[in-house]
Amino acid sequence: MHDKKNYDVPAGVHTADVEAVLISAEQLSQRIQEMADKVSEKYKDVPGELLLVGVLKGAVFFMTDFARALSIPSTMEFMAVSSYGNATTSSGVVRILKDLDIDISDRHVLIVEDIIDSGLTLSWLLENLSSRNPASLEVISLLRKPEVQAAKIDLFDVGFDIPNAFVVGYGLDYAERYRSLPYVGTLKPEVYQNH
Ligand code: PRP
Repeated sequence: MHDKKNYDVPAGVHTADVEAVLISAEQLSQRIQEMADKVSEKYKDVPGELLLVGVLKGAVFFMTDFARALSIPSTMEFMAVSSYGNATTSSGVVRILKDLDIDISDRHVLIVEDIIDSGLTLSWLLENLSSRNPASLEVISLLRKPEVQAAKIDLFDVGFDIPNAFVVGYGLDYAERYRSLPYVGTLKPEVYQNH
């Protein structure tokens, strides 16, 4: 029997605030499987399990779907970080709110990010984790915006390059809302005006 996924959004999940769907649930699912296949192929012969490091909270949805799409064993760790500065300007100074629970020395580590905007969070994270002597360190990001810094970061794979618009859904929030939308979309302008 054909295994058809249900991409419907349950009623009441803020869908009325969405202006446009940028990347559908089906597109996300297909691309994540491609990314997982590429990662499975690269790491299939490395000793030990691949260690996925997710950055809370946005990467949680991508992380769980990605991990389940891998055909190799993996383990998961999460970090929570906060960048100083206001909502629109990142300063590049990052503070650890929750660190990894384990020592990553000699482990093959793959950072799993939901979005690279300015690239400052990831630049800092790469430097921080590489100082802990992992066997290897790579990054995948589901989304990437066309900022200068973001473009300079060397990624193992990126799901989608998106325009420089504010996007929500599939882990991404506006004022902590909309993370559970199954697609990536933009919000109607009045949603921002009402806050
Ligand atoms: C977002 C996202 C990245 C970071 C990218 O997290 O998850 O970690 O911003 O931005 P940058 O490339 O400009 O550094 P956010 O701080 O919004 O936290 P959240 O994941 O908990 O929503």
